Amino acid sequence: MNLPIDFIRATKELLGEEWGSFDSALNSSAPTSIRYNNKIEIPTSPSFEKVAWCETAFYLEERPSFTFDPLFHSGVYYVQEASSMFLEQIVKQFVKQQVVALDLCAAPGGKSTHLIDLLPQGSVLISNEINRQRAYILSENIQKWGNENCIVTNNAPADFERYQGLFDFILVDAPCSGEGMFRKDPNSIDEWSLKNVENCVFRQRDILSKIWGTLKEDGILVYSTCTYNRSENEENIQWLKDTFSAEILSVKCEPKWNIFQNEYGCRFFPHRTKGEGFFISALRKKTFEKTIKLKSLNFPKVNNNKELLKYLKKDDQFTIFSLQDILYAVPKDMDILVQNFAKNNTILHAGIEFAQQKGRDFLPQSGLALSKSIDLTQINVCDVDKEIAIRFLQKENISINSEKGFVLISYQNVPLGWVKNLGNRSNNLYPKEWRIRNKQIF
Ligand SMILES: C[S@@+](CC[C@H](N)C(=O)[O-])C[C@H]1O[C@@H](n2cnc3c(N)ncnc32)[C@H](O)[C@@H]1O
Repeated sequence: MNLPIDFIRATKELLGEEWGSFDSALNSSAPTSIRYNNKIEIPTSPSFEKVAWCETAFYLEERPSFTFDPLFHSGVYYVQEASSMFLEQIVKQFVKQQVVALDLCAAPGGKSTHLIDLLPQGSVLISNEINRQRAYILSENIQKWGNENCIVTNNAPADFERYQGLFDFILVDAPCSGEGMFRKDPNSIDEWSLKNVENCVFRQRDILSKIWGTLKEDGILVYSTCTYNRSENEENIQWLKDTFSAEILSVKCEPKWNIFQNEYGCRFFPHRTKGEGFFISALRKKTFEKTIKLKSLNFPKVNNNKELLKYLKKDDQFTIFSLQDILYAVPKDMDILVQNFAKNNTILHAGIEFAQQKGRDFLPQSGLALSKSIDLTQINVCDVDKEIAIRFLQKENISINSEKGFVLISYQNVPLGWVKNLGNRSNNLYPKEWRIRNKQIF
């Protein structure tokens, strides 16, 4: 690996005699790891090695073609780098009651889908991404994960400044110089320079200073990067402490995990732990913050068609909002948050993307198919084999042996999406943006 000389110098200084083993780890291949969704019972195959700090994650022996695995598309698992799953330990140690949480830099959604599983019952996650294209991918991944307690927004950090003291938990997985990804993504090596590290620090502090006010008193902020240098990590944590009197929390790690820990946070190096380079730290706000009181608004419009809710388990716990022609089923205790974010921010998704209104008819949406709250007893379901599932995901018009009308296509009994069955053929309702573009048959 052709590493920049300034990177070698700085990292040698950081690692001392460990540099040699770090350097050889960078020249070995990156492990592949996946984290399971609780949509299915998690397989306990002894041939898979577990990720020590994440209960639902495993390393795979080799990297398969995820694109041609229908279970990847139905949200049964998320392909995520193992070190970053350490977020689980922080949430388990410091978040004990239901929270309103913000994941500020969330795309493509690794940590948001993890957070949704980890946060205590009744919590709501605002999952935000500044970049529009990446925000759509985030929204897709959140919908595939299938939980309804999430709102996806596409905003800049400054757009949250109005929500002073609203959040009990904030994750800033900051845009960074990407050093920790050199092994997985060699292109990031060419983009690295000391100047770029400096620019990243400037941007990270700008993001943190814009968002700090939105954290409630006693709230937790988790800061992470996939870098090794001290400027983007320890020095930023020290800066948070000095600027906002934040308390740095000490996170418990098992010694056998071999994670490097100091007074600022936890560091992951590929020669010590099976995963990529990563830094993570947790801080508590110790200063008083007035909390904004969100008001109930008359926006978006509520659709009172109770008939629609029969497709959901626990139908009495949802409100249906209509934004443009899309209906979203939202847990009632999220109503006020949805109203405020819909008015003041750019919402891409909320709750369950349920149906599209077409005149007097409703077209079921993929978000409903993928939702953990769908009531399958109310719906025609057709379980298909792998080849048909792939053709469905390629958005081909498959023919199925089922009732006429809307049919939910599933693979290994996990829903994938909808077709409208016309008898001799069917219309494929899978979103075109989500389709498998590669036309080959696996
Ligand atoms: C490290 S990635 C996030 C990865 C994500 N948390 C995950 O686990 O899948 C950082 C994200 O920050 C976004 N970003 C870039 N500049 C930003 C800024 N000025 N403010 C907020 N987010 C920014 C990037 O678009 C990128 O999606």
